[in-house]
Amino acid sequence: MREVAVIGIGMTEFGELWNRSFRDLVAEAGMHAILDAGIEGDEIDAMYIGGMSSGRFIGQEHVGSLAVEVAGLEDLHIPSIRVEAACASGGVAMHQGYLAVASGMYDIVVVGGAEKMTDVVGAEATNILASAADREWESFFGATFPGLYAMMARYHMKKYGTTPEQLASVAVKNHYNGSLNPKAQFKRRISIEDVLRSPMVAEPLHLLDCSPITDGAAATILAPLDIAKKYTDKIVKIRASALATDTLSLHGRKSFDSVPAAYHAAQRAYKMADLQPKDIDLAEVHDCFTIAEIMAIEDLGFFERGEGGKATEEGRTAIDGEIPINTSGGLKSKGHPVGATGVAQINEIVMQLRGEAGERQVKDARIGLTHNVGGSGGTAVVHILEVI
Ligand code: COA
Repeated sequence: MREVAVIGIGMTEFGELWNRSFRDLVAEAGMHAILDAGIEGDEIDAMYIGGMSSGRFIGQEHVGSLAVEVAGLEDLHIPSIRVEAACASGGVAMHQGYLAVASGMYDIVVVGGAEKMTDVVGAEATNILASAADREWESFFGATFPGLYAMMARYHMKKYGTTPEQLASVAVKNHYNGSLNPKAQFKRRISIEDVLRSPMVAEPLHLLDCSPITDGAAATILAPLDIAKKYTDKIVKIRASALATDTLSLHGRKSFDSVPAAYHAAQRAYKMADLQPKDIDLAEVHDCFTIAEIMAIEDLGFFERGEGGKATEEGRTAIDGEIPINTSGGLKSKGHPVGATGVAQINEIVMQLRGEAGERQVKDARIGLTHNVGGSGGTAVVHILEVI
C-alpha cells in the first residue's frame, strides 16, 4: 500500500442556498480544491462523490457523471463513482478515494460530497433523512432521527446522569466556534438558556440540540505521498482510514449509550496509525445532535464513558481546551448537508494542520481526526491526518 496525502481542499458556504443549484455547489467546491492543489484538470484520474439522496431532495441521480461534466472533464472519460452511506456518504467516499490511491490504481483522485436539502419542505426533508433508518421497523412507524437520538440521550442521561445543561453546552461551544467560521450556516453565539428555552423537538432534544437542514458541497484532492511533494510543501498525510458497520436499526443494538461502529472504526484507525487517543490534537466529530458529540468523544477514547457531558461543560473540548472538538462549528453550527459533511470535516482538519484556520486556529495542531456517522450508527468512518 502507498502512503496517501491530501493536496487540495475546497468547500462552498453552508446554509439555505436557495439561489444556488446543486451543480453550482459541486463546481465551486471542486474548483476551489483544484486551485488549492495547483493541479490541472487533466491530471485527475478518478472521482468519488458522496451523496445521500439527491434523487429525492432535487430529483437528480447519477451524480458521478454530473461531477465530471461540471468540472469540464468529460473528454477524459475518467471513472467517477457516487458513494452512498447516508450521513457518512462523504466519509465513505474519502475511504474509497484513499483505497484507490493507496492501492496504486489511481494517482490523483478527487473526493467530493454534496447535498441540496432545502428545496423540499421540512417535513419532507425529515422523511427523506428517515430513509437512512430501518424503514420497515423504525421510520414506517414514525421514528425520525431526532426521535432516535432522543432515545440515546435519555438512556445516556439515565445511565450516567448526563444533564440537559451538559447537552446544551455542546451546542453553545459549537455555535461559538461557528461564529468564527465564515462558511458556517449559523454564525450566532447562543447561551445554555437559549438552548433550554428553544422549542422541544424530541424530548430531551430541543431545536438548538439539533443540526440543521443544509445545502453545501466540499471536495479534497488526494495523491500518493511522493507525487504530493511535487505540488505542495504543506503535506497532510492520511495516517489512517477506517470504516465499520453495525445494525441499520437502533433497536438491533445491545446498548444505546454509544455508537459501536464508531468505537470499532476508531480502534482500527488508532491501530493503523499506531497512535492513541492522547496523541490526537483536535477532532471534527459527527454532532448531528448534541448527544451524538458526547457519545463520539467517549467512543473515540478522549473521555471515559459517561464523562463526555461533564468534560464539555468544563470547557475541555473548547478551542483552547485539552482536546478541541468541532472547531469548524460542527454539524450543529457549520451545517449538515449530509453527503458533504464527511468531506467538509477533512477540509477543517487540513486547514487546522496547515495553520490556516484563522481566528479558530488550534495552537501547534499536528495530528487531527475526523469521525463521520451514517444514520443512528449503521456506518462510521474515522480518518487520522498528520502534517509532515
Ligand atoms: N439549529 C439552530 N437554528 C435552527 C435549526 C437548528 N438545527 N433549525 C432551524 N433553525 C432556525 C431557522 O434558521 C429558523 O430561524 P429564523 O426563524 O430566525 O429564520 C427557525 O429555527 C425555524 O426554522 P425551521 O426551518 O422552520 O425549523 P424546523 O422546525 O422546520 O426544523 C429541525 C428544525 C430541528 C426539526 C430541523 O433542523 C431538523 O430536522 N434537524 C435534524 C436534521 C437531521 O436529522 N439530520 C440528520 C441527522 S442523523
